[in-house]
Amino acid sequence: IKTIRDIFDGLFGSSGETVVIEEFLNGDEASIFAITDGDEYITLAPSQDHKRIFDDDKGPNTGGMGAYAPTDLINDVIMDKINVQIFTQAINGLRNNGTPFIGCLYAGLMIKDNQPYVVEFNARFGDPETQAVLTVFEGDLLKLLYSAATGKLDKSAVTNISNGFSCCVVLASDGYPEHYQTGFPIFGLEHIDDKNTMIFHSGTSIINNQLVTAGGRVLCVTTLADSLKEAIDKTYSVINKIKFNNMIYRNDIGQKGLKYIKKK
Ligand code: GLY
Repeated sequence: IKTIRDIFDGLFGSSGETVVIEEFLNGDEASIFAITDGDEYITLAPSQDHKRIFDDDKGPNTGGMGAYAPTDLINDVIMDKINVQIFTQAINGLRNNGTPFIGCLYAGLMIKDNQPYVVEFNARFGDPETQAVLTVFEGDLLKLLYSAATGKLDKSAVTNISNGFSCCVVLASDGYPEHYQTGFPIFGLEHIDDKNTMIFHSGTSIINNQLVTAGGRVLCVTTLADSLKEAIDKTYSVINKIKFNNMIYRNDIGQKGLKYIKKK
């Protein structure tokens, strides 16, 4: 009630003149990306983001602290529902409205009692899920995206949406997602040389030939392995080689994924 009063008192200016109250969704989150030419679409490996800053999903929301793919949360039955009830409806609906969507349609979902619910759609890839999803992708991504952009989706550009398992963990600056310091030298990347390990840069900069922190989410360490457990262990062993002042990260990325596998 206090929040609604604050909104009507001008917290969000004129955007807060209308308030929509929706059911709060408990459940397990999943992210699915569909590449579409506005008519046909193909979904990439299902992944799971970890949005809260601290382990066990505690603390404030962030842009995402880590992800893994594929996730066994999405079984074949749930995937069928996601296709029939969500992507087909959304993509056909947009086209029939005269506003076809071409590109990557990202459905942020909550899965509750084997039923998928849409929390949000984004008209873009997600971060850090993309690092996980594209690491297990096998095929010609450029050909796939170009075919979607030019109106004739070429599904044959995809050989396998999930070849192995990936785990990516974000290394962040202490204080993120609020106030944090930057400018600290980053050490250890020179010791990482493995074809199945990728370090994605986000909040980094080079000052006087030295790599330094320059943002809240600094690096995203991503590995590919034959099992989710191996991918998780490998990612954390790579993280042990990287150092910068005020470095924080979650220790439990992928653990929910291991639980879904056990439940199967
Ligand atoms: N990982 C959440 C987003 O990209 O919006």
